[in-house]
Amino acid sequence: MNKLLPKIIFYALIVGVAIAGTLLYIKTQPPPTAPNMSPSPAASTCIITIDGQKYDVESLRNTHTGGDIFQCGTDMSATFHGQHGDNLQMIQRYLVK
Ligand code: HEM
Repeated sequence: MNKLLPKIIFYALIVGVAIAGTLLYIKTQPPPTAPNMSPSPAASTCIITIDGQKYDVESLRNTHTGGDIFQCGTDMSATFHGQHGDNLQMIQRYLVK
């Protein structure tokens, strides 16, 4: 028993130092933060072509009485004229200048 006691004290010391070290390490770590937020993406667009002119109908997609029939990036002349005839005036505000 007399020979065992120093060994027990020695190992207890090692374990104690290890625990203290771990606690100290945890304490010095910076608190978790939210991941860096990337800048908000530029507002999206939905450009369609009618009679050679470009129109951004992104804002119309949610409100259009005829529904979100828009196929962005395509020529929708036939679709438009089929429903609205030749009245381009009604979409002037969406014209991309
Ligand atoms: C490129 C294609 C088209 C464009 C740019 C377009 C644009 C518009 C705009 C600016 C209006 C007036 C505001 C509103 O009511 O939302 C409108 C109205 C309307 N659209 Fe379209 N439209 C298109 C195609 C269509 C199609 C294919 C349909 C049918 C499925 C349709 C059905 C309607 C209806 C029922 C209205 C309300 C009544 C009227 O003003 O005639 N539209 N559209």
